Amino acid sequence: MCGIVGYVGERRAAPILLDGLQRLEYRGYDSAGIAVMRGGQITVVRRKGRVKGLSEARSLEGKIGIGHTRWATHGAPSERNAHPHVCGKICIVHNGIIENAAALRTACEARGELFASDTDSEVIAHLIAAEKGDLLHAVRAACERMVGSYAVAVLSQEEPETIVCTRRASPLVVGCDGDGLYVASDIPAIAAKGRKVYVLEDGEFSVLRQGRPPRFYSGALLPVEKTEIDYDAAEDVPAKGGFRHFMKKEIAEVPEAVSRSLPDLRKGEYSALYEVLCQTKYLHIVACGTAYHSGLCMNYVTHRFARLPAEAYVASEYRYMDPIVPADTLLVAVSQSGETADTLAAAALAKERGAKVLAVTNVPYSSLERLSDFVLPTYAGREIAVAATKSFNAQLAVLYAVAGAVAAGRGLSAPPLAPLLPAVREALAMAEQVRSWVPYFVGAKSVFFLGRGADYFAALEGSLKLKEISYLPSEGYPAGELKHGTLALVDGRTPVVAIVTDPVLADKTMNAVHEVYARGAAVFLITNVPECLSCAEVTASVLLPKCEPAYSPMITSLPLQMLAYYVAIARGNDPDKPRNLAKSVTVE
Ligand code: AGP
Repeated sequence: MCGIVGYVGERRAAPILLDGLQRLEYRGYDSAGIAVMRGGQITVVRRKGRVKGLSEARSLEGKIGIGHTRWATHGAPSERNAHPHVCGKICIVHNGIIENAAALRTACEARGELFASDTDSEVIAHLIAAEKGDLLHAVRAACERMVGSYAVAVLSQEEPETIVCTRRASPLVVGCDGDGLYVASDIPAIAAKGRKVYVLEDGEFSVLRQGRPPRFYSGALLPVEKTEIDYDAAEDVPAKGGFRHFMKKEIAEVPEAVSRSLPDLRKGEYSALYEVLCQTKYLHIVACGTAYHSGLCMNYVTHRFARLPAEAYVASEYRYMDPIVPADTLLVAVSQSGETADTLAAAALAKERGAKVLAVTNVPYSSLERLSDFVLPTYAGREIAVAATKSFNAQLAVLYAVAGAVAAGRGLSAPPLAPLLPAVREALAMAEQVRSWVPYFVGAKSVFFLGRGADYFAALEGSLKLKEISYLPSEGYPAGELKHGTLALVDGRTPVVAIVTDPVLADKTMNAVHEVYARGAAVFLITNVPECLSCAEVTASVLLPKCEPAYSPMITSLPLQMLAYYVAIARGNDPDKPRNLAKSVTVE
């Protein structure tokens, strides 16, 4: 996901912009740049690669500027496609996708305008430059012609003390303190003690002018009064705390994240939600990636204990499947960032069709929170590594609790969640054992993760973790399904991880172990069923603490996260910033 920063005030802009971009690095990107204005002249420095490649720009004079980290959508990662983009006296940075960019660009080119990049974003600069009047009106006029999503910050040589910014479907916050005014894609990029922060709503504009308070305007450019938000600046400054990578630190934080996130839905503040849960007749769960996997885990538990028709959907499918949303449907939207475009769109669609929406998010003041009827936060703390770890386990804590409340509302009961807290701590301690498995994986052709029931969903998550940071091909597969075709892929170069936590299903999954072993695969077992350890075909295993089998992804995920982490490092990758990936995908 792209990141935006901007500053105007009493201090040199360049260092502030670069520090802000470094705080946005966790979002994932492939190029970066800043523009600083001084005396009406704009200097742009852009580089493919990391923000540290912009170090020469740190000495730039000028007290106003904008910066950007780009995650390529239209146009390859390159210096020419990096932001900021310039047209005439206008300079912009953009996060989102302008869906009608091609048509707009054709119209600009028909007027003889030349484009310097392959991006959709550059057209924004051309549209604004073609408008007359002050910058705010020019930006608004340009936005009226654009279709798609955007968070935009704009400089103009004709207004050398002003930044105009606006958003539609991509987040943007504004900050101010004694040193000046700030704009950024998220709070952590500008968090600082004593700094006021405001969240821009879709369609709103903000004018940041040197020496004045921030001004906010509606889509009709009527003044808007905004309330500053309450956030903990100290919490938002990420540090590795002695760990080599954020991912390792965040895996270590799983027990704390789970403990902090487990909600007591009988508390007064949740009474309205609890009422809805008791009346819920249909449950739709929508999410992407890891959040989808935690949604599958919730779906399983809801069926098992609440006996309720529930369905987990990939959000990007749900939004285009013309879903049937019966009366008394609760849609649970799960999103760590609360900014994933597909999840936002799916939730908005269900809401339009009468569903109540419950958001389960890890970032306060997110777009998903603002869209939803109810919010159940996960308190995993900031997750910097692109690969979701502690946020997954925190989501399970919340989602299992919701499923339990739905069961209670139907006169049924789900097993208690409290025993998971010590089990997670024990599982974390044992997870380190998988480090010895790495040599079998580092050069593998591909890897299979097998499980039945809840173990299958853990297998899906373990596979995604491995793929996204080791770049190894991998599949999570129902253990009973392998023999229906995929077994053809299994040989001595495809290690297999079998996950077994349900004693009722253990023998069945071990049958799959025998099948793959017979084809030459090295088998690794993650289990809390001691009887399985006697299997001589298993190369290595991790014995985890007992837990309710339906809740087992809460503990089996830990060795899976750790395995992905160590294999990624062994393959020379940066597990915190995997190639091609973003922490939150705010575009389709
Ligand atoms: C998880 O490891 C991935 N980085 C990715 O699948 C992520 O879970 C997905 O993009 C959804 O993000 P969200 O939870 O912020 O909506």
